[in-house]
Amino acid sequence: MSWDPEALRGTPVNPDAAISVRGLTKRFGDFSAVDGIDVDVPRGQVFGFLGPNGSGKTTTIRMLTGTIAPQAGQALVLGEDVIRHPERAKRRIGYMSQKFALFEDLTVDENLRFYAGVYDLPPERFAAQRRYVLEMADLIGRENELTANLSVGWRQRLALGAATIHDPELLFLDEPTGGVDPVARRQFWDLLYDLASRGVTLFVTTHYMDEATHCNRLAFIYRGRLIAEGSPQQIRRDFISQRILEVSVGDPDAALQWLEQAEGVAEAYLSGASLHAVIGSGAQGRDELAPWLTGRMREAGFADVRAVEVDPTIEDVFVNLVSRQP
Ligand SMILES: Nc1ncnc2c1ncn2[C@@H]1O[C@H](COP(=O)(O)OP(=O)(O)OP(=O)(O)O)[C@@H](O)[C@H]1O
Ligand SMILES: [Mg+2]
Repeated sequence: MSWDPEALRGTPVNPDAAISVRGLTKRFGDFSAVDGIDVDVPRGQVFGFLGPNGSGKTTTIRMLTGTIAPQAGQALVLGEDVIRHPERAKRRIGYMSQKFALFEDLTVDENLRFYAGVYDLPPERFAAQRRYVLEMADLIGRENELTANLSVGWRQRLALGAATIHDPELLFLDEPTGGVDPVARRQFWDLLYDLASRGVTLFVTTHYMDEATHCNRLAFIYRGRLIAEGSPQQIRRDFISQRILEVSVGDPDAALQWLEQAEGVAEAYLSGASLHAVIGSGAQGRDELAPWLTGRMREAGFADVRAVEVDPTIEDVFVNLVSRQP
């Protein structure tokens, strides 16, 4: 394994990075929601911050945006110390929050005006930014529509527009595509690429593993700790040595139960409509893994089973990493 979770510990924070964090810790009572995170996010990148529910993603963003104070650690955002001077970087960053982003009882235009007011945009800059945002979000002609009447996909685009009305250098997006259908998610990611191509650094949380491949770099957080960090390619290469079979079968529930007990299978889980079986160390060296497993599953009564060896996905890596945690 080449990623070392301790590598940055004790090194100085990096003022050239978009975000540089050492030992960042947030406790609520006795509970550490974020537990000593060390990470550098280079400028101009799309950085994916991945983790299951309750792993500390939103809490991390709230500390980095200067919304809440940590108990320990250091954090530079665009070179500014956000713990000592939370207001200094505020006008240079944007934040599309997970829960609240827009007033539903305001129109499209009124929402944009509200955010422009938050950032004190002068009228001529607002006029230019407003035009840019309406074009980007494909909302020209809908300026006077009530936000509540927009579909979820449009609303997310408007929220992105509102979060970027002041043309920030760094944008935090907390699960921006939650509840959005796959087509609208794709369109939303096209907008994010657009921002990235203009040099904006994006810090995006998600638990959609397919979105991870859209990022230049990824970090996995689990129970408040980073358990992996790197480019999607590095993470795939470095974090999984096991071989994986994708198993299609008529009764996946029964097959999953069987695989979980099967000798030679280290791990089995649902992946989309099929199952993934991580092959244990004992059987790793076999040449013909797929016929070996299908043969055994047919004997066990799964007549329609098909298996094929696949490259590990980001999701495979994550499941694998989590299963190794104490
Ligand atoms: N203000 C608070 N007081 C007490 N506990 C909190 C508070 N905010 C968050 N937590 C707890 O901290 C942990 C991390 O929460 P956080 O919201 O950062 O997770 P998350 O990764 O964003 O999850 P999700 O994917 O569900 O949004 C959770 O167990 C949560 O219940
Ligand atoms: Mg959250």
